Amino acid sequence: MKILAIESSCDDTAAAVTEGRKVLSTAVASQIMTHRVFGGVVPEIASRQHTESICAVTEKALSSAGLTIDGIDAVAVTAYPGLIGSLLVGVNFAKGLCLSSNKPLCGVHHLRSHIAANYITHADLEPPFLCLVVSGGNTQIVAVDDYTKFRVLGKTRDDAAGECFDKTARAMGMSYPGGVELDIVAEKGDPSKYKLPTPSVDGSVFDFSFSGLKTAVINTIHNAAQKNQSYSKEDLSAAVRQKVCDICVEKTMLCAEKEGFDKIAVAGGVSANSLLRRKLLEGCEKSGKRLFLPELKYCGDNAAMVGVQGYYELLAGNRADMGLNAAATKNIED
Ligand code: KG4
Repeated sequence: MKILAIESSCDDTAAAVTEGRKVLSTAVASQIMTHRVFGGVVPEIASRQHTESICAVTEKALSSAGLTIDGIDAVAVTAYPGLIGSLLVGVNFAKGLCLSSNKPLCGVHHLRSHIAANYITHADLEPPFLCLVVSGGNTQIVAVDDYTKFRVLGKTRDDAAGECFDKTARAMGMSYPGGVELDIVAEKGDPSKYKLPTPSVDGSVFDFSFSGLKTAVINTIHNAAQKNQSYSKEDLSAAVRQKVCDICVEKTMLCAEKEGFDKIAVAGGVSANSLLRRKLLEGCEKSGKRLFLPELKYCGDNAAMVGVQGYYELLAGNRADMGLNAAATKNIED
């Protein structure tokens, strides 16, 4: 089944052609440089840029695969969750394509797609497995019981891990999206030079909270500025990176043990974090579990992962009709 996949949930306009787990082509128009001057994504601008880019990006994905829309069996599109204006561009474009070409349509959940990025990299990965989903807007521990059956075992009560990285990086003067630069700067720092709090979360031991940690880092920077003192960007980056990674790894390993999973996957933009990858590898080696990491090019938002998840959604009969609507929020289980 050849699928044309479209992704426009945030600040990348992406299209891909996939066949099962195989990626036949990808195309992307990144908006990073546009939003960088504002220090974060400006939703109104993002929607308009998706509108400008979506036709060219789709044509490029089709032509790189040596296909026209006639050679496509179905169209998969990210429908939720994300920035509503951005999602609507992709959803309406996909609906128009399906209406004019009489192809089946599939609305795909963005986090399900991030998990599916692992299927591209690991031909032998099959559910059930446990997945740590860490992106700019979400942090969750998800039981992947089947390709289209998910259970959320833990989630953030406030900020996502990526948000914590991006906002603390911005406070240190790094450019958007700060998580990438913070990871590089942290490699040169000593994490023990700053004592940051470990957030406590009442209730589920597998839930997360990163807003207190974010505030503690920002306060450290402000206090230094008020006292006219300098601070070490390298050491502070290393400290916050270590804290976030320790929390994510500890909870994931504990959850896998308690729920009896011997396979652990990671998904979302923050799965590119070098320390997180190292620590998870260490944890899995120690406990005899198998770790699945997505290739770096499939960690962030991309359309190939949408095509692969769309394939499994369509196999499960999850075909959308012309009433498909975008939604800013949606539980991965629904
Ligand atoms: O999954 P993604 O591309 O978009 C969302 O769906 O949210 O994730 C973007 C997030 C941003 O917060 C970005 O800073 C973070 O992923 N990120 C990283 C790294 N690369 C991207 N965070 C830490 N270390 C990295 N190497």
